[in-house]
Amino acid sequence: MEYSIKSGNPEKQRVGCVVVGVFEHRRLSGPAAAIDQISGGYLGSIMRRGDMDGRPGQVFILHNVPNTLSDRVMLVGCGREREFDAGRYQQATEAAVKALNANGARDAVSYLTELNVRGQDLAWRVRRAVEITEQALYRYQAPGTAAAAQEQTAVRRPLTRLTFAVASRRDLGLAERSLAEGDAAANGVRLARELGNLPPNVCTPAYLADRARQLGDEHDALTVEVLDPADMEAQGMGALLAVARGSRQPARLIVMRYQGAPADTAPQVLVGKGVTFDSGGISLKPAAKMDEMKFDMCGAASVFGVVHAVAAMELPINLVGIVPAVENMPGGAATKPGDVVESMSGQTIEILNTDAEGRLILCDALHYARRFEPANIIDIATLTGACVVALGSHASGLLGKDEALVRRLQEAGERSGDRAWPLPLWDDYQRQLRSNFADMANVGGREAGTITAACFLSRFTDGMSWAHLDIAGVAWTGGRRKGATGRPVPLLLEYLRGVAASA
Ligand code: BES
Ligand code: MN
Ligand code: ZN
Repeated sequence: MEYSIKSGNPEKQRVGCVVVGVFEHRRLSGPAAAIDQISGGYLGSIMRRGDMDGRPGQVFILHNVPNTLSDRVMLVGCGREREFDAGRYQQATEAAVKALNANGARDAVSYLTELNVRGQDLAWRVRRAVEITEQALYRYQAPGTAAAAQEQTAVRRPLTRLTFAVASRRDLGLAERSLAEGDAAANGVRLARELGNLPPNVCTPAYLADRARQLGDEHDALTVEVLDPADMEAQGMGALLAVARGSRQPARLIVMRYQGAPADTAPQVLVGKGVTFDSGGISLKPAAKMDEMKFDMCGAASVFGVVHAVAAMELPINLVGIVPAVENMPGGAATKPGDVVESMSGQTIEILNTDAEGRLILCDALHYARRFEPANIIDIATLTGACVVALGSHASGLLGKDEALVRRLQEAGERSGDRAWPLPLWDDYQRQLRSNFADMANVGGREAGTITAACFLSRFTDGMSWAHLDIAGVAWTGGRRKGATGRPVPLLLEYLRGVAASA
């Protein structure tokens, strides 16, 4: 999609479609009123017939509206004007974009960006417009598929040029910068979705390492380093390596360093769980929906997405993205229940369930991250089925002992519409990890599974400002619309924008 910004009257736009908002009940937004007036009350007369009364998400397309220069005018329902907030804006924008793409219009000018959204400014509206559009139009592209094969299912006359209107010429500069930011964020989300959706025979730890090196080549400020199993052995990463042992795919530890601030500025560090397939290992998972365990690297994918977007935006921060990447498989050499391993931190772990593998790779990656002396460190992981039970698919689980960091992440989630919700991390839960044979067990029993998983990680983050996002419920959708969502890239980017602004 080609995006641009423009200021000007809706009736003067020579394009395939002009998009204007209509509030409940039949209240015209400013741009809609302008078209109504010049067309001699045409919109009003159509709406009085009952075809469109402004309900949220409703779309109605008119052709040849008198005295306008566009082929079509699209009326988009925005709900009650007083209630027009971030969620409604998303709903309206999404409905408009989907209808535009399904229609004959190749280009369009949207006036939805001129509407007042409660609590948000113009920069937000433009940024979100791009993000929502890209999100709505995303379709999975199989790697190596010929363009011709894709065409069969492709939209016949897709939208290719979309312009966002701003009320005043003075707003053009700001809106154009927001457009570029939104585009970078959308590209980050798209990368996260694409990596998540790839089949697990393609997206292996080595493949992720190659994609990281590619990102490094694309951005000057990004350096990428990859550790192989021998390097990790030398570092003493016994927990991470224990997970990889059952697989033919060798593990990788991927380190992406973005420098956008002076070298002595402490970095933000993101650690993403990269289990490219989680069979459960010897504690094998049941067959139903096991294919969905290809999404067990969505934490890693979100780190890729964020690093890509931050580098494209040239945010003035330092950022380190760390991805421990493994495949969790059963096999003759696989780790067994009862095995005791030594983590890089020196703490020993009794592995009672090989399906609790995420925390084993994260604990070594978190310990490794100490060398970067993080200002804050956040891990992102599809860590527990219990989190899906607790919060469903609406919010990521959010845990940590640094209350300020937890609050900043929660607020960033709220602002970006990519929510996270806190769970307690009281020491009372720690005793569930007791082991008779090692410093700790890797599972804490049936109760409070999301919290005991975070308790486990907390033992490796002492002295660091750390928070944990359990994205098991939000990283992908199942069923007929199965696919990666790109969450929580929007939350993390909003958080990092805040870091940049307060630097
Ligand atoms: N990747 C899974 C968590 C998961 C399961 C995410 C289902 C989304 C949907 C993780 O590695 C896992 O298997 N966790 C176990 C932990 C248990 C053995 C303590 C779980 O949640 O059952
Ligand atoms: Mn598992
Ligand atoms: Zn897993």
